[in-house]
Amino acid sequence: MEKAFFDQDNNDNSLDRVDGRLKVTGAATYAAEYQLPNVTHAVLVTSTIAKGRITSLDSKLAEQAPGVLAVISHVNSPGVPAYGSSPAMPQRATLGTPLRVFHDNLIYFSGQPVAVIVADTWQRAEFAASLVKVQYEKEPHQTNLEANLSRAALPANVQRDKNSRYHDYDRGNPEELNTAAVKIEATYKIPTEHHNPLEPHAIIAHWEAPDKLTLYDKTQVIKGTQGNLARAFKLPLENVKVQAKFIGGAFGSGIRVWPHVMAATLAAKKVQRPVKLVLPRELMFTSVGSRPETIQHITMGATKDGKLTTITHEAVAHTSTYEEHTERTILATRMLYDCPHVSTRYRLVNLDVNTPTWMRGPGEVTGVYALESAMDELAYALQMDPLELRRRNHADSDPEKNLPWSSKSLKECYAKGAAHFGWHKRNPEPRSMRQGQMLVGYGMASSTFGVHRNYAKSRAVFQADGKVIVQSATSDIGPGTGTAMTRIAADTLSLSPAFIRFDLGESTLPDAPGQTGSTTVSSVGSAVKVACEALKQKLLQLAVNTPNSTLYNTNPADLSVEQGRIFKTGNPATGVTYTEILKQNNLPQLEVTEESKPGAEWQKYSMSAFGAHFVEVHVNPTTGEVRVKRVVTCAGVGKVINHKTARSQSIGGVVGGIGMALTEESVMDHRFGRYVTGDFANYHVPVHVDIPPIDVFFIDEHDPHVNPVGAKGLGEIAIVGVAAAVANAVFQATGKRIRDLPITPDKLI
Ligand code: MOS
Repeated sequence: MEKAFFDQDNNDNSLDRVDGRLKVTGAATYAAEYQLPNVTHAVLVTSTIAKGRITSLDSKLAEQAPGVLAVISHVNSPGVPAYGSSPAMPQRATLGTPLRVFHDNLIYFSGQPVAVIVADTWQRAEFAASLVKVQYEKEPHQTNLEANLSRAALPANVQRDKNSRYHDYDRGNPEELNTAAVKIEATYKIPTEHHNPLEPHAIIAHWEAPDKLTLYDKTQVIKGTQGNLARAFKLPLENVKVQAKFIGGAFGSGIRVWPHVMAATLAAKKVQRPVKLVLPRELMFTSVGSRPETIQHITMGATKDGKLTTITHEAVAHTSTYEEHTERTILATRMLYDCPHVSTRYRLVNLDVNTPTWMRGPGEVTGVYALESAMDELAYALQMDPLELRRRNHADSDPEKNLPWSSKSLKECYAKGAAHFGWHKRNPEPRSMRQGQMLVGYGMASSTFGVHRNYAKSRAVFQADGKVIVQSATSDIGPGTGTAMTRIAADTLSLSPAFIRFDLGESTLPDAPGQTGSTTVSSVGSAVKVACEALKQKLLQLAVNTPNSTLYNTNPADLSVEQGRIFKTGNPATGVTYTEILKQNNLPQLEVTEESKPGAEWQKYSMSAFGAHFVEVHVNPTTGEVRVKRVVTCAGVGKVINHKTARSQSIGGVVGGIGMALTEESVMDHRFGRYVTGDFANYHVPVHVDIPPIDVFFIDEHDPHVNPVGAKGLGEIAIVGVAAAVANAVFQATGKRIRDLPITPDKLI
């Protein structure tokens, strides 16, 4: 595994994780681990019906149980000031009202919080929760997407927004399908999947004063959580503090402010003590979103020599009855291949479940699974190598936006991945390759994810001791944000990384967007870069303005910097260190704050990352068990800031894709409208034994257009396409095309 990494063309000057030691020694503090004096413990009582109303909620016994401080429900909630106005706390890409916890007696889904118990210990809260008696008036619920397809509709939030990209899209004349020489048509299904980071969601809510709130929360969006809580409780922004210094994975579950956050905050208000609430694993399945279930229908037409003529792609996904969650499911189909006639349709069906949300690679991962499975089917219909089919339909510019790519290395990814994998050894005939008893299959798929960028700010402070503190209110859900930012700051300032400390995870730091959509390096990294550049310029200016400096009156353009020393280019003997400059000017420190935001480049270029995955599977013909034996993944993601952590991120994405392909499925018992797979015994994420060697390659891409850092983002593209590559490999191994994930053994025998 290591070998492939060092085989890359890139020099390996990777940093270890700057917080690695803290994490592996247990010194890193996660949300639930903050030690607050007087802390109390909260446990949620959740609904056992999927739809209806609470007719009575009897908490007398619970209130009398030992150690109980409060039982809060719609009956006695102190209330959230903004709940009165609707929609409260509007959030990106949703239409409707987020679930207003304890607001009224209405039940929207099974597992909805109906009360919270606060006690002096968690055990006592847990016991008291068992004593709350809730009676309901049930109404018939709908939780089955397939049975409700007749209600599929264009989302209302799309209807209201004429600029939305989810409107019906037609390019050319999709009727051309009728005249295509070769056609395929298929329906693909992905079940609801749930984010299952190792660390469950957790929060400590602490009202430090009646109008001052501090949250230790597992959130990907620190400033957003601060803003949402300030609006909800009608507090000045600066009166709300949010801390999330360490996060044990999230995958998108931490992008929104969920009901349990409001429940803990309300409870803390009521008991006037800090309240800790940790979601048990089972509630991770109803409290923090999910990947929506989808049914996708694709048709493709091509000429005999494998030139795509038409693609139609219809996607239906579920949402809740109280909000619309929309995602990019059909967008990749419009731009991944050069095809003259394309149509896409996007529809939602509301069901009596909690609102789905973004889950790693949201939209693209779903759409590309269907598209890349269909491409494989088309390759077989054409009797053409699937990789060759993709090469023949390469989009040299963005066929939807009619814009040039800012950069694209998909062909290089195909070449490098195929060569390293040994794709040429593949016999395309299904069931033609064996190793002992095992059927062997090779499969591949393309991947893509849009490049995004948000406004971000960063402060950089050069201290008298030679250290630089760089700050931004981003979070780090695992990719190694602190490490990447340290690298960017060190390179920009021409300093050793050992002199950099990057602070993140607190709302008091300069503005940063949420860690979402693979945007952290492009957004926060750009802010860090411009802040450090400004700091360096300030130091250079100071050097040439300091009368007793050897560089006095030198033109800054004639200066070079190495390892924190400024000198006349070509003459290192003239050098003066950053620290000496501060001393000569009697400055305790030098500070700059800069911002960075996207500009006009988005009108000139289409910006996306592209890649390819190659997978070998072995299938046991008797038991139907699929083992992934090796994976080669290659992507062009702009500049790779730190190879070691980037490689880890790619491996994590492939692992997620293998889970999606083979095991992950949230099973709903429609009789009760309740997920029955609420633990790791029933919801199967891959474990070590399921994961083969994964070779990761990056194409060295120089993209001056995307952002000052030149990085496109990596977190999401790492998973996009993996499930299709696995499914395609399973087809070549077995001759069976499994179009509904996960590919469990029962589907292969
Ligand atoms: Mo990602 S789904 O934006 O955490």
